[in-house]
Amino acid sequence: MMKIKTNEHYSNLKQSYLFSEIAKRVQAYKTAHPDADVIRLGIGDVTLPLPQTVVEAMHRAVDEMGVQETFRGYAPDFGYDFLRQAIAGHYASFGVTVSPEEIFISDGAKSDVGNFVDILGDNTVLIPDPVYPVYLDSNLMSGRTVRFLTGNEENGFLPMPDGLEEMPYVIYLCSPNNPTGALYSLDQLRQWVSFANRTGSLIIYDAAYEAFISGTEPHSVYAVAEARTCAVEICSFSKTAGFTGTRCAWTVVPPELKTVDGVSLQALWGRRQATKFNWVPYIVQRGAEAALSEEGMHECMEHISYYMENAALLADLFRKKGITFFGGVSSPYIWLKCPGGMKSWEFFDYLLNRVQIVGTPGEGFGAAGEGYFRLTSFGSRESTVEAVRRLDALL
Ligand code: MLT
Repeated sequence: MMKIKTNEHYSNLKQSYLFSEIAKRVQAYKTAHPDADVIRLGIGDVTLPLPQTVVEAMHRAVDEMGVQETFRGYAPDFGYDFLRQAIAGHYASFGVTVSPEEIFISDGAKSDVGNFVDILGDNTVLIPDPVYPVYLDSNLMSGRTVRFLTGNEENGFLPMPDGLEEMPYVIYLCSPNNPTGALYSLDQLRQWVSFANRTGSLIIYDAAYEAFISGTEPHSVYAVAEARTCAVEICSFSKTAGFTGTRCAWTVVPPELKTVDGVSLQALWGRRQATKFNWVPYIVQRGAEAALSEEGMHECMEHISYYMENAALLADLFRKKGITFFGGVSSPYIWLKCPGGMKSWEFFDYLLNRVQIVGTPGEGFGAAGEGYFRLTSFGSRESTVEAVRRLDALL
């Protein structure tokens, strides 16, 4: 028997991570019903193959790796310049200035969200509810004090700082929001940035779904220039370019982010990453660069249109059924109210058992998500059409 101490804060977590819990329940169902044709609209995992431009760039990179003159070993700290420059160019395409030196390449937004807690001390943390569960879990793992910013139908799932005690916080914002699809306007972001600068707070801004924005809402927190003194931004190729299995993302940490004692967050994040992370393979970084090229972005946007057509099919059904829902515009997720006052895990079981459709219970995104349910539009067209048919017959 070991006599070591473990991280006691892990006992504050639910037993399984949300998407592992869903996978476990689906596996149990499939074991009991081996012939069931289960449609997975739970985790937001893409189904279209990588854009051709990306595939070709990665093939070229593989060839380079097989030749002495162009072979590469460890990647440079923080990512290759070509990719950091391409990302800066992506920001410029929607009018935001970010310099390559403040961009840190990583293997995923989930990793960066989870790891950023490492360089922060014991602050009070504000987390929207409902939201992507990694924000809460990673802060619980570090024993942080968490307060929730409740999103609901009244505030359009967009909590604002009004009424918050004026003190320094670490504030998580996600826009377009996962799971609700709600997105902050420029004016709302200005209010958050002004609050953060006034109170000496840090905003951790998750922009993983920015490519899905179809209106004029900001794609980046740096659309508000003053965010450079109070915000880091995390973004990813996963949903934009189909990289869920390929892995590449980035975090922007501007040099202006300094504590009152003069500590630079950029220096700390660089130190943390240089020590604990071995970077993203050259081949993948070349693929990511290609995704941001003109042709690559064109293909990415075609894929996004395909997913948004899936979202429209689901949305049409819920409209026809008179079921309240949100999202599905500027977001690959449909966030619906469970019919008949069902609780969200109850509705999960109901759909799985009755029509073999897997979604994500709203409660998994926070207490305020109870009574709601998330469906992803990242399935294939065939499976989405079939899901709509089954739901039409059931609901
Ligand atoms: C989700 O379904 O919320 C996401 O796919 C999970 C993730 O990106 O880690």
